[in-house]
Amino acid sequence: MFAIEIKNLTKEFNGLRAVDNISFTVNKGEIFGLLGPNGAGKTTIIKMLTTLLRPSQGEARVWGFDILKQKDQVRNSIGIVFQEPALDNRLTGRENLDFHARIYGLNRENRQKRIEKVLKLVELEDKADILVKDYSGGMQRRLEIARGLMHYPKVLFLDEPTLGLDAQTRHRIWDYILKLNKEEKITIILTTHYMEEADYLCQRVAIIDSGKIIIQDRPDNLKNILGGDLLSIEAVPERKALKIFEKFLWVKKIKQHNGFIDLNVERGEKKIPLLMKIDQKEEGIEIKSVNLRKPTLEDVFLHFTGKTIREREVSQSEKNKMMMRRRFKRQ
Ligand SMILES: Nc1ncnc2c1ncn2[C@@H]1O[C@H](COP(=O)(O)OP(=O)(O)O)[C@@H](O)[C@H]1O
Ligand SMILES: [Mg+2]
Repeated sequence: MFAIEIKNLTKEFNGLRAVDNISFTVNKGEIFGLLGPNGAGKTTIIKMLTTLLRPSQGEARVWGFDILKQKDQVRNSIGIVFQEPALDNRLTGRENLDFHARIYGLNRENRQKRIEKVLKLVELEDKADILVKDYSGGMQRRLEIARGLMHYPKVLFLDEPTLGLDAQTRHRIWDYILKLNKEEKITIILTTHYMEEADYLCQRVAIIDSGKIIIQDRPDNLKNILGGDLLSIEAVPERKALKIFEKFLWVKKIKQHNGFIDLNVERGEKKIPLLMKIDQKEEGIEIKSVNLRKPTLEDVFLHFTGKTIREREVSQSEKNKMMMRRRFKRQ
């Protein structure tokens, strides 16, 4: 059995296909990532899987239970941490956890034991009796993760778990996520638009854009698609330089992007000296800079969509504005 099984899931909002016929499975015990720009449809997928939103088409099972016909069983099998904080600021951390556990019907003894366990997991034991309104953003997020774990869920949904947190806090949250995956043997599905987060945490990643899955695989396999290292070269005049680089047999792929010429090569560090051997005067070009990078998931996204995630977010929000304007005119 899969932890999650999704077939042809679609969600439309007033003619907008926020989620467009997606299918994938998540294995038990896996950390699976949905990676994509703002507006890609990630939260909508999570809301359908957690029974908060009804799909327009398609079906899905979570821990073997049908999201339409077995809502209660699905809800009992899952924990959710949403993008927007949902804690009660007037209560302490411990009270928030206790309240949640009561909703799930845990008895008193079990509640107390579980609260200690989850507090320890996110290292909030010392802060348990402080009001949540006095927590930092990072502490609140940790408490929310702890709360999501209270009722022993089989599958934990994390929607943008580190959104808006500083780098140090983000790394700490990553460590908790890895720890609870290992110690509690919990299956985790998370969404993010941070490439390095998906890369660091997830055994497998689905890259999603405009409601569609572009590609899914293990992060290292995805990066290997690009074929080795990336040499980003700034050279003028660009077209002349491009012609020269194209002739090298060791260049596997070549692409122009934002004033740079990107070469896909193997063992990039060995190729830089070869570039330096080019007689720039004779060829009539000037190489201004060479930058060697190991490919990231950002490069994979760029490769498949022709845009960086950031560029995609900007064009997406413009598209949304246009749709709103059109709708407004019609009314
Ligand atoms: N309740 C809703 N009504 C109308 N449009 C929505 C609603 N929820 C989301 N959308 C639209 O669906 C698309 C996907 O949104 P969302 O799932 O929140 O993306 P993500 O979580 O990847 O940023 C966006 O264009 C968004 O504006
Ligand atoms: Mg979202």
